Amino acid sequence: MKAMILNSFGGPDSFELSDVPRPVPGAGQVLVQVYATSINPLDYQVRRGDYADLVALPTISGHDVSGVVAEVGPGVTAFAPGDEVWYTTQIFDGSGSYAEYHVASQNIIGKKPSALSHLEAASLSLAGGTAWEALTVRASLKVGESILIHGGAGGVGHLAIQLAKAIGARVFTTVRETNFEFARSMGADVVIDYEKEDYVEAINRETDGRGVDVIFDTIGGDTLSRSPDALAQLGRVVSIVDITQPQNLIQAWGKNASYHFVFTRQNRGKLDELSVLIERGQLRPHVGAVYSLQDLGLAHARLESPNNGLRGKIAIAVTPSQQPTAVASTAGEQHGL
Ligand SMILES: NC(=O)c1ccc[n+]([C@@H]2O[C@H](COP(=O)([O-])OP(=O)(O)OC[C@H]3O[C@@H](n4cnc5c(N)ncnc54)[C@H](OP(=O)(O)O)[C@@H]3O)[C@@H](O)[C@H]2O)c1
Repeated sequence: MKAMILNSFGGPDSFELSDVPRPVPGAGQVLVQVYATSINPLDYQVRRGDYADLVALPTISGHDVSGVVAEVGPGVTAFAPGDEVWYTTQIFDGSGSYAEYHVASQNIIGKKPSALSHLEAASLSLAGGTAWEALTVRASLKVGESILIHGGAGGVGHLAIQLAKAIGARVFTTVRETNFEFARSMGADVVIDYEKEDYVEAINRETDGRGVDVIFDTIGGDTLSRSPDALAQLGRVVSIVDITQPQNLIQAWGKNASYHFVFTRQNRGKLDELSVLIERGQLRPHVGAVYSLQDLGLAHARLESPNNGLRGKIAIAVTPSQQPTAVASTAGEQHGL
């Protein structure tokens, strides 16, 4: 099979399109023909060597799969050849989704929602699963509560806005001004221009000084230490980003705040819960751009650049069936297809 192999850590041109043996499913495993995948910041972080101590080279990266079951291993009862499936791959195990085929345990695979194209499903599993875990499992966001979602135009942020609205919360989000309309179309009630406004001041102005019940951080920096100033009593902060700088949390004590840290976990239950919202029309990933597998390096370079003009996710078309005509209604720009 063809796969984009990473032989050494480095820039976006580090991938080599190579022929490698097709994996064979073992007991409890499923072989999936990958129709589409997508890119997450984790993928360019792996590529440039941020996790060099956890990733053995050569490796196949990529963490989202949408495709069709080609073969099942012994003991697999939940899936059969021909089933359309979607999932997030195991992180750092060396066999990622930038390939024509992928093998995974049946426990982490879900039946793909029929309302989504493969490009859309591949854009949802990791980013949407992370947002779901952050908002429901960790923050326990409730009907009528308020939430600040940092980075509302991004891969995770635009899905978090939709999830928070589906839960019944009032949503504040930080985006650049050019993404105000996009964020509103995802369901945001209040948009804050992160380039021109201080979000703490904006939240206090909009909530008469009460603050929000939940802050979801997809950006980092000094967000943990500043959060108490924008948080209501008993507020919760959930972060999904690396915290690289020491932060003084003394103000969090006065707010009786709790902090949660999320590193995405794979399981079928989360995918099935997202599927319910998709079927109800309450959740849909926005595919901002589509690249071919051969142009993976270009897609990486784009996602990695600041102010890249992207909204939502970059999807990667792996099979010819994911050509633009099949996805024109949902995808934005097309590259190398
Ligand atoms: N822990 C986990 O399991 C997990 C899972 C998924 C993602 N993550 C992490 O979460 C982060 C976001 O992931 P993603 O997939 O959403 O990335 P993304 O698609 O690149 O989105 C990032 C967004 O942040 C916006 N942004 C940049 N600076 C901002 C600021 N100061 N305030 C508000 N928005 C700002 C960008 O908008 P502009 O381009 O317009 O500036 C962009 O829309 C990454 O660091 C990623 O590694 C962690």
